[in-house]
Amino acid sequence: MKHWRIDEVPWDRFQPSRIAPDAIQIVKAAAMVERNGIDYAIYLKNVFHDDPALKQAADNWAVEEVQHGMALGRWAMLADPGWDFEAAFTRYREGFKLPLDRDTSVRGSRTGELIARCMVETGTSSYYSALADATEEPVLQHVCRLIAADEYRHFKLFYDHMRRYLGRENLSFFQRLKIAAGRITESEDDELAYAYHCGNEPLGLPYAHDRCIAAYMVRAMGVYRFRHIERSMGMVLKSVGLRPRGRLSDVASRVAWKLLQRRRRRFTGQPAPQGQFVEAV
Ligand SMILES: [Fe+2]
Ligand SMILES: [Fe+2]
Repeated sequence: MKHWRIDEVPWDRFQPSRIAPDAIQIVKAAAMVERNGIDYAIYLKNVFHDDPALKQAADNWAVEEVQHGMALGRWAMLADPGWDFEAAFTRYREGFKLPLDRDTSVRGSRTGELIARCMVETGTSSYYSALADATEEPVLQHVCRLIAADEYRHFKLFYDHMRRYLGRENLSFFQRLKIAAGRITESEDDELAYAYHCGNEPLGLPYAHDRCIAAYMVRAMGVYRFRHIERSMGMVLKSVGLRPRGRLSDVASRVAWKLLQRRRRRFTGQPAPQGQFVEAV
C-alpha cells in the first residue's frame, strides 16, 4: 500500500520564484529513473522467481518508485510548462534497457543483489533528503521529504531480505564490500547520465556520457551537506555488516565527503583550493 498519494501534495503552494537554478534539470533526470522502477521489479522478480515474499515486496516497491517519478515529473512540468514528460520518458525507455531476460543477479548472488539494492536506496534516501534541505521551493521540498521517507523504508526492506539471504549464501565481508563499493561507483554509469540527456538536452544533440554525467553530477552533488553523507555512510556500513556509528563511520564519512568535493570539482573543471579538500561543515 502506498504511504501517500500524488493528489495529497499541496501543488497550489508552488512558488516558481523560489526554484534554484539547477533544480529543474536534476529533477527531470530523477523523474525518469524513478518512473522506470517497474522494469527493476521485473528484473528482481526474475532473480527471486521462487521467493513469493520478495516478489510481492518488489511489486509494492515498484508502485512507490513509479509514484516518485510521477510526482517529480509533475513538479518539473509545473516548473517548466513546456517540458513534455511523456515524450522524454519514452525516449529514455527506448535508449536505456535493463537485463530483463536474466534469471540470476548481475551481482553474482541474491545477497549481492540485495546489497546493491541497499546501496541504491541509501543513495536515494540521502539524495532526496539533501534536495529537500537545499530547495526553498515548498512543493519540491514537500515531495522530496515524502520520497526520502519512502526510500529509507525501501532500504530497510531490502536490508531485511539481504540478512535472510546472507544466512544461506554466506558471502564474505570482502565480497559484500566489493559489491557495495561497485554499486556506488555505478552511479556514474549511463542510467542517470542518459536520463539527464533525455530530460534536458535537445532532440538533435547526440548522447555523450561524459558531458551528461558531468552536467548531472555537478548539479546533484551540489545539494549535499556533510550530515547527509554522514547518514548515508552509516547505512552503507550497516549493509556490509559493520557498526553504523562510531570511529570508523566518522572517518569514512569525512573521506567520502572529501571525495565528493573532489569529484564535484573534477566535473566542474575547478582546481582544488590551495591543494586542500573543502572541509566538512
Ligand atoms: Fe524512489
Ligand atoms: Fe526506493
